[in-house]
Amino acid sequence: MLEVDQVTKAYPSPTGPVSVLRSIDLRLAPGGRATVMGPSGSGKSTLLAILGALDEPTSGRVRLDGIDPFAGTPAERAAFRNQRIGFVFQEHHLLDGCTALDNVVLPALASGRVSAAIEARGRALLDRVGLSARAGHFPGELSGGERQRVAVARALLLEPRLLLADEPTGQLDAHAAGAIADLLVDLAAEVNGMLVVVTHADAIAARVGGIRRLVEGRLVEERGT
Ligand SMILES: Nc1ncnc2c1ncn2[C@@H]1O[C@H](COP(=O)(O)OP(=O)(O)O)[C@@H](O)[C@H]1O
Ligand SMILES: [Mg+2]
Repeated sequence: MLEVDQVTKAYPSPTGPVSVLRSIDLRLAPGGRATVMGPSGSGKSTLLAILGALDEPTSGRVRLDGIDPFAGTPAERAAFRNQRIGFVFQEHHLLDGCTALDNVVLPALASGRVSAAIEARGRALLDRVGLSARAGHFPGELSGGERQRVAVARALLLEPRLLLADEPTGQLDAHAAGAIADLLVDLAAEVNGMLVVVTHADAIAARVGGIRRLVEGRLVEERGT
């Protein structure tokens, strides 16, 4: 369960704090999905960073399965992110010097959990995203869509409770974008995880569902999605 209550975020500026998120409320049950839309600069990435415990809210509360990631120490917050959050960004953020498989198992490396079982899960995920033949390839040898599929596999490695994707298809053509959206939805469902996707694309939004728009720092739900 994801519970977001009255979250605000303001950034300091020379002319005083600039309010980006004014009051965000969001509830997702296990397996639940949300799409966040809104113009550039409306605070979508800011919101996702807070949901993923990358950035602290100015006020308000976030809980994932009852845990407030901002209540603990920085080390506890890092462990929370590693174990419970999967992130897919517009830029895939793969390590160029590592193979596709090594990139996928990277989250386990961070928590010292690389094992034969983890490597097997990495291979299974690469297979699941249609890249088993590319396991030993480097990011520079893959297409944009393939790199993003590796990034999706990596985000799923540790079976996150919450999968966050910030414009994950922004640099892909419609066909590759649709494949990424399908993978995000299907793979999140396979671990009964929650999924929040930021996108400008109506086709992606329709696939993910639960459409909300960021309007003046608040999330406005669209009916019937
Ligand atoms: N670290 C930061 N410091 C100051 N302002 C920021 C920072 N990050 C984002 N902003 C501002 O917050 C607003 C929302 O940014 P962002 O969340 O990236 O929007 P979106 O993802 O919807 O395009 C923008 O006006 C941006 O300039
Ligand atoms: Mg953004």
